[in-house]
Amino acid sequence: MHLLKDRGFNHPHSAEITPQGTYLDRRRWMQGLAAGAALGALPALAQSARPGKLAPLAGGRSGVAGALVMDKPTSYADASSYNNYYEFGTEKSDPVAAAHALRPRPWTVAVEGEVKKPGVFDLDALLKLAPMEERIYRLRCVEGWAMVIPWEGYSLAELIKRVEPTGNAKYVQFVTLADKAQMPGLASGVLDWPYVEGLRLDEAMHPLTLLAFGMYGEVLPKQNGAPLRVVVPWKYGFKSGKSIVKLRFVATQPKTSWQSAAPREYGFYSNVNPNVDHPRWSQASERRIGEGGLFAKKRPTLMFNGYEPQVGQMYAGMDLGKFY
Ligand code: MTE
Repeated sequence: MHLLKDRGFNHPHSAEITPQGTYLDRRRWMQGLAAGAALGALPALAQSARPGKLAPLAGGRSGVAGALVMDKPTSYADASSYNNYYEFGTEKSDPVAAAHALRPRPWTVAVEGEVKKPGVFDLDALLKLAPMEERIYRLRCVEGWAMVIPWEGYSLAELIKRVEPTGNAKYVQFVTLADKAQMPGLASGVLDWPYVEGLRLDEAMHPLTLLAFGMYGEVLPKQNGAPLRVVVPWKYGFKSGKSIVKLRFVATQPKTSWQSAAPREYGFYSNVNPNVDHPRWSQASERRIGEGGLFAKKRPTLMFNGYEPQVGQMYAGMDLGKFY
């Protein structure tokens, strides 16, 4: 995409560039690729590649600037089996093994705090609130790995506009499910439960901030945050809370689980930034899951994960080393 070209580095390999054209062309291209490589990356193939195909959830091609990166998507198999979801354990393989206990229906999301129209939204109402779009986003984890995932959802702004934030609303806190009956990981004290995250209101309203209900053309697998999660593609993966049950609009910067657990390591902003290292992990480069294992050449990490043209302005004048 043009932003990669403009930056003059990290061009996608030619094999990864999607032919220009319509959404359908992309789909056909991806299906051809998947069939050729026998990878389970796509709904069409997934049916034969794995048991328990999930309900379809199609989205039209997104018109939001930056919403469709051209890199080759990570395989569905990798995206749904190499996860961070600490409520189901701290190993990457724990969520896929344990998340079967999650009950994604019935499900409601409460909206409270500094809004004129607080309320409780049922999942079925949320599914119909705005047209579903497909967004192909990079997701960069602070641990140094990355994926490219086709999500289905719509801008979180669609929901926020409906509840009418008051003039006092400066931040949104995301509260995720914490139910010991469904989540064995809650027995561990590794984090304060529930898992909470937060965004500044302008970040939450940014069109790239996605309320996701599906991926790869199907409803979200439980281990990826069913039945709905946020995806904030220019921030480290942990900002993208899974299985959200509440949005709280507040006047002051809200608590986040990772910041409470290790304030020196995790800041509120957590924008992907190759120039600001985490105390334990360099952020200069990353490993794409599925690209040849540990010996694969790492890719340079891009400022704001490559979304700088869309989001950079929100941080103009801020010391990103201080506000990490
Ligand atoms: N949300 C909840 N509720 N619990 C978690 O442990 N992990 C985060 C984020 N959202 C997490 C969460 C982290 S660290 C990452 S990298 C992403 O989810 C991983 O999303 P994925 O498994 O769909 O790739």
